[in-house]
Amino acid sequence: MTTKLIIDTDPGIDDAMAIHYAFAHPDIEVLALTTVFGNVWVEQATRNALVLAEQAHYPCLVAEGAARPITMPANDPSHYVHGDEGFGDLPAMMPKGKADPRPAHEVIADLCRQYPQEIVLAPVGPLTNIARLLDYDPEITSYVKKLVIMGGAVFCNGNVTDYAEANIWNDPHAADQVFAADWPIELIGLDITQKIKCNGDDFKMLEDKAPEIGGFLNRISDFYIKFYHTVVGEYVCLMHDPTAIVAITNPDLITYQDVPLNVITAGDEIGQTVPSDDATRRPVRVAVSADGAKICKTFLDICAETDKIKTDRQNAG
Ligand code: RIB
Ligand code: CA
Repeated sequence: MTTKLIIDTDPGIDDAMAIHYAFAHPDIEVLALTTVFGNVWVEQATRNALVLAEQAHYPCLVAEGAARPITMPANDPSHYVHGDEGFGDLPAMMPKGKADPRPAHEVIADLCRQYPQEIVLAPVGPLTNIARLLDYDPEITSYVKKLVIMGGAVFCNGNVTDYAEANIWNDPHAADQVFAADWPIELIGLDITQKIKCNGDDFKMLEDKAPEIGGFLNRISDFYIKFYHTVVGEYVCLMHDPTAIVAITNPDLITYQDVPLNVITAGDEIGQTVPSDDATRRPVRVAVSADGAKICKTFLDICAETDKIKTDRQNAG
């Protein structure tokens, strides 16, 4: 059974890893990449999403979304984590194709109405486009199969401040609106992703097995691994976004706790995801533990096949 997927993304190094995993996985059909500000400016995110689809010869839509949060001024892009152009030290990569003329939230609404209850929506950046989607089409909550969101830090510290994880911190008002809506959400947050690590040897193996796409992932991982050495003291790659997609393909590798959530939208703790005492809020399935080694192995095994899968896709015409 193939899962239809829309990835809302701010590529971004770990976003690129997640997207190439999704493109290569036999059980996933990526219908669209929709872009949002966050790791990079939204224009860079759109350019990078088009490049990733072309690298994999993957025929999905790309649509540009929000350039800034729904309410507050935008934070600066985290170029110090993902590089000036979003792919580490690599210079800007220019795609051949163009994005869909519709804004991201309209593409998401159109596809979810075309395939009612079939599409998994996987936001791995700030949730601005998803909040815009709710404003644009409030009934969409009954058309989306589920959301699998990379974001939040419910029972652990944040990674931008002690309280807030980056995707939520970048648009806390949007995140609170998304968690208040009546739709099924799985939250893949720092509670598990900060313990799910690949290393430089893993990515060198990918380059050996898949010199083109694996080589690209190895090159961009270098900048990210050096950044994480300054944060956690180890040369590791925290697999935030790839874990959200592995949660879709291999749900048995993660355990969840049902927790209704609020997001703090002001003060020092802005962007914190906290258990809510609002009885009207639908519980979110919060990922609380995971088999990190198996998640990394699953990611690496699929990504080792990326070049072959691309060639097969090209030959199939
Ligand atoms: O906190 C990690 C998240 O923020 C990931 O999605 C990463 O790509 C950044 O967007
Ligand atoms: Ca991301």
